Order: sequence, then structure tokens, then C-alpha cells
Amino acid sequence: MPPIAFLECTRCGTDLSADEPQTVCTECPNQPAGSLYVRYDFSSLKGSDPLRVVDDSSTNWRGMWRYKAVLPDVDPVTLGEGWTPIIKSKRFEGVYLKKEGTNPTGTFKARGLAMAVSMARHYGLEKLAVPSAGNAAGALAAYAAAAGIEAHIFMPQDVPIANYLECVAYGAKVTLVDGLISDCARIVAERKVEGGWFDISTLKEPFRVEGKKTMGYELVEQLGWEYPEAVFYPAGGGVGLIGMWKAFEELEQIGWVKPGKRPRMIAVQSSGCAPVVRAFQSGARTSTMWENASTFASGLRVPKPYGDRIMLNIIDESDGLALSVTDDDILNSLKDWAQNEGVFLSPEGASVTAAHSKLVTEGILSPTDRVLLFNTGSGLKDADVIAEAMGLQRPILETRPVLEMLT
Ligand SMILES: Cc1ncc(COP(=O)(O)O)c(C=O)c1O
Ligand SMILES: [Zn+2]
Repeated sequence: MPPIAFLECTRCGTDLSADEPQTVCTECPNQPAGSLYVRYDFSSLKGSDPLRVVDDSSTNWRGMWRYKAVLPDVDPVTLGEGWTPIIKSKRFEGVYLKKEGTNPTGTFKARGLAMAVSMARHYGLEKLAVPSAGNAAGALAAYAAAAGIEAHIFMPQDVPIANYLECVAYGAKVTLVDGLISDCARIVAERKVEGGWFDISTLKEPFRVEGKKTMGYELVEQLGWEYPEAVFYPAGGGVGLIGMWKAFEELEQIGWVKPGKRPRMIAVQSSGCAPVVRAFQSGARTSTMWENASTFASGLRVPKPYGDRIMLNIIDESDGLALSVTDDDILNSLKDWAQNEGVFLSPEGASVTAAHSKLVTEGILSPTDRVLLFNTGSGLKDADVIAEAMGLQRPILETRPVLEMLT
């Protein structure tokens, strides 16, 4: 594992030390202060053969930790995250689906939180707090339990029941909030000093991006060290999209990816909460707060992402797109993929399949274009929410006395 050279501000370029825990840039002349990227000295890896460097032969270094050569030098808190399967669509020639539901806690959030909690343990932090749309909370609760660290969780009171259940089961301290993730973030900010909590919010510490960047390394390795033409990503706070783009930069710097154009990054949101799409369409550099955010894809209910500027830059630089789909489109695509592909997508994953179909229908993409779609979770984690969207209730069976049934 390479030592961390420094942490770099994504806005003003200041370098900070990683010897102690950092949040966002402390020297920033900008508001809000820039998120920090972890920078390494990769000189010893340049020109190396990835097949010799990337290695999962030892138990501690399986899954996403196979990329330890490009991750911080830390003793991992691991539950088996990463190295998720990619399957090819049965119907669309160019479509590959990355199934992140096989991660611990059932979503891709495991990657970011595995890394952030590993670093928290490394720094000796004892109490972590997170505002969450649901799945990051579950992942933090699990990794904190594994690391023997306290987790303080703030999430909307109407999160899928699985998120509430898992946090309680893992022994986290859970507060359900009558509001959205933005309200939860405000509460964490107000109470963290008094609580002695380290704030592990999206893009307000440097390591969740490092965990999520493994998705970029992985998809390139799984596709034969080659880029697809486009990557479709359901964007809430945007950590995955940002992490993958960082991975592509690093892969090129090291020389592990076959020369070719980087993928177009396609950010998908629900029309009930689409601040990044609105900013993209108006050419703005940042988003504005989306009022009355509402969608059954709960991971996409982020009315004003902290990393909006970085996401919009990446979309631009990659010649990508931000587009929204309605909750009806999401539900229809979810049912379509369940019935015709045998895959029970998470609502967020189904936003991406819906967006892909939309772009194919509009002739912006061809069905044969080689694209990678992220199913960031699994429908099973959102069982109550999807059942409600489908109007499905458990049928009430007629009960008869047992004796009557025996005669
Ligand atoms: C299943 C799922 N997909 C996508 C997202 C959006 O992720 P990000 O905030 O990294 O953009 C979330 C966030 O909660 C999620 O739970
Ligand atoms: Zn700065």
C-alpha cells in the first residue's frame, strides 16, 4: 500500500497532511470549503503489470482490497465488500449491469464506509456520526460494530424499514428525523462538537471517495482493462461518480488501462428530486436546493449535494449527461428487469435502466453501445417501499378452525 502523500483540496488546491483526521479544506477561501482528495506517490507503480500488482490471494485483501496498491496504508475493517459481479443483459447487446447488491449491507455504500471506518480506527476515533438517506447509515452501523466504534445515525423517519432495522440491530444510536438528509446534516453539524463525534458525511471527509473509487478500478478490470463507452450512475450525493472518475485519472497515471476515451458519465436522478439535472440543463456550476424533494428511490432524495460542483465538472469533462426519470418510469423499469432479466433492481438501479431505455428510445444511444449500468443496491432492501409503490399488500387468508380443515 502506498503512503498517502497529502490531501488535496478540490477547490483551492491546498495540500493538507493526512497524519491527523481531516474533514474539508481548512485553508479554503471558498464557500463551501472544498472536499479533500487523497493523493499518493504512484511512481513505483508506473508501467507495472496490473495482473502482477492487483492481488486477492490473502484473506484480508479480498474484494475491493485487491486494489490495496492504490489505497491508503491501513489495516482494513472488512466484511467482504467489493468485487461484485457484472452481468450482461439478456436483451440489450451492449448493456452490462454491475450488481452492487452483493456487498455487505446490500449496497455499494459498504465500499465507502469500509474505507472510512478503517481510517477512523487507524486515527483512534471513537464516535462517528452520519446523516444518511438510509443505506450509508446501515453500512456505517455495520462497519462501526465490526470496528468497535460508536455510530450516531440521523436519517429521515420514512427510510425503508430495512435501514432502520439494520441500524438498530447493529447497535447504532439512531435518530429518525422528520425531514430529509439535508435536515439530518444540519443536526449533525449542530451537535457534533458537543457529542464528540467525527462527521463522516458525504464528501466532508476524504475516505468514502477512496472506497467508492474501487468501483472504477473494478469495472475496468472486469471489462478487460478497457473503458466502456458510458457509465450510468444514480446520483444522490455523487460519491460513486466522483470516486470512479478519480479511479480513471489514477489508472491513466499508472498506465493500467488500455488507451481509449474515458467513459461518458451519465448521472441519473428522479424527477422528484433532480438538483444536479436542473443545474446541468441550465449550465450552472452548482445546484440549488430542490424544494419538497420526493421520490421512492430514497437514495436519490438529496436536495442539495455537497459535491454538486465536482459532479457537474465531471459530467462536462466526460461529455456526459445528467437526466431525470419519473418514479413511474423507475417502477416500470424495475418490473421490466425483474420479469425479463431475473434481476430485482433497487429503485435507484432502476432509475438507471429507465434512463438507458430513454436515451436509446430518443436515439442518443444505440442498444449496442457498450455501457455499464450501476445497480447500486437490491430491491430486497427496499421491499416495503417497492411493495407500496406496486400497491401490493399481503393477502389476508381466510382462516378456518383446524378441526374443520381436517375433516
Ligand atoms: C442504493 C443507492 N443508490 C444510489 C445512491 C446515491 O449515492 P451517492 O450519494 O453516492 O450518489 C444511494 C444513496 O443513498 C443509495 O442508497
Ligand atoms: Zn481549499
